[in-house]
Amino acid sequence: MAFPKDFLWGGATAANQFEGGYNEGGRGLANVDLVPHGEDRAAIIAGQQVHLDFDDSHHYPAKEGVDFYHRYKEDIALLGEMGFKTFRISIAWSRIFPQGDENQPNEAGLAFYEDVFKEMHKHGIEPLVTITHFDMPVHLIKKYGGWKNRQVVGFYEKLVRTLFTRYQGLVKYWITFNEINMIMHAPFMGAGLILADSDNPRQDQYTAVHHELVASALATKIAHEIDPNNQVGCMIAAGTYYPASPDPKDVRQAQLDNQGNYFFVDVQSRGAYPNYALKQLEAEGIEIPFAEGDKELLAKHTVDFVSFSYYSSRVSAHPDNLDKYDLTPGNIFPSVINPYLEASEWGWQIDPLGFRITMNDLYDRYQKPLFVVENGLGAKDEVTADGRIIDDYRIDYLQKHIAAMKAAIEEDGIPVMGYTSWGAIDLVSASSGEMAKRYGYIYVDRHNDGSGDFSRHKKKSFDWYKQVIASNGEDLSNQPG
Ligand code: BG6
Repeated sequence: MAFPKDFLWGGATAANQFEGGYNEGGRGLANVDLVPHGEDRAAIIAGQQVHLDFDDSHHYPAKEGVDFYHRYKEDIALLGEMGFKTFRISIAWSRIFPQGDENQPNEAGLAFYEDVFKEMHKHGIEPLVTITHFDMPVHLIKKYGGWKNRQVVGFYEKLVRTLFTRYQGLVKYWITFNEINMIMHAPFMGAGLILADSDNPRQDQYTAVHHELVASALATKIAHEIDPNNQVGCMIAAGTYYPASPDPKDVRQAQLDNQGNYFFVDVQSRGAYPNYALKQLEAEGIEIPFAEGDKELLAKHTVDFVSFSYYSSRVSAHPDNLDKYDLTPGNIFPSVINPYLEASEWGWQIDPLGFRITMNDLYDRYQKPLFVVENGLGAKDEVTADGRIIDDYRIDYLQKHIAAMKAAIEEDGIPVMGYTSWGAIDLVSASSGEMAKRYGYIYVDRHNDGSGDFSRHKKKSFDWYKQVIASNGEDLSNQPG
């Protein structure tokens, strides 16, 4: 049997895309609440357009998400029925510390997650908790400038201490930051950075990066001190860059692009800034704001596991060669189009073998257990006249990716702790803010324009994934019908 018997099968979500209840239970406003659906979204998540208050001309999908806040019992019961072993959620920071800089946490927020975790355990589901998934209290942006301010490390420290203490015995798997490399691609979403009026945006980004890396090591330290059973992971948006051609310039470009992503894990897993990063930053004139004790902290408190999202591989071309190629449309990670691959309706290229390649690259480099915490196909679903959702395309994508992961475990010998496909229950898309881009096994009646009653409906993939979990990944077959 390829998958270990304690393999953690499940699904993944993020508070800002899923939870809703944005102004309930004493919750404060978060950056992601203010990111609207529609054409301004891209500039706002990139920190190029300042948008720190609601207005009447936009629809803000994170306000209600898909209403997990009110429906968590029903949702967790459905996941239990599918046989989930784990469920990945994230904490909305502003539910625990509404402004971010208070001394005392908000009890209603703490009680909410406590109840969610207890409900999971009732169904035999182990929580996997992302501490920060693209969110921070807006107050920390308005008053402190987001993660480029060192003081935010202290506020995050308070948050994690509160969480590890309160949920001791309920949660043991933690992820410090979702897709930490997103700071470079979506800095407002990833780190609360507004770059529109910055004199030196790259410096701001790397300052914020350093602070998140320090905060991540600090969280790892505190997690282990409070409970040695805690296991802490880092998390990147992974997907190996292939060179567009054997031209050494393209190969070198792919190497640089891969380093751009590995850099974060190099620090979080190996415990120091790698030489290539130190040299590149120095050449660019970027200063890393090391404070006393940072280097020791990073070195001593490395992560227990390496988690990552994988949706697609990517392709790099040297700038001199770029005009020979077409680029993938509308993706936060721009890539040259790979002519060997098909793409989703959103232009994300589908590459199951790339998943196995990415897993090998990560394991070769870090030699730590991997945890696949996001993978899946964003697709439009049709509800038939008799109310069914036949999502064979999603089953096909997941089947091929799970088979690739199985080969990585069985034939390449890579230790993998678990697999949580993205958006087990349909939720708001992070890049586009749409509801139409669905990933779930469970359909949610909610639409781009904010219509719908949030009712939940099982898709065909619901029974399929149930069978995958029940057979511990041995039976990936899809039955017709
Ligand atoms: C990852 C994020 O980038 O990809 C998720 O961690 C996101 O938050 C997921 O939802 C899928 O991307 P999208 O844009 O299709 O929602």
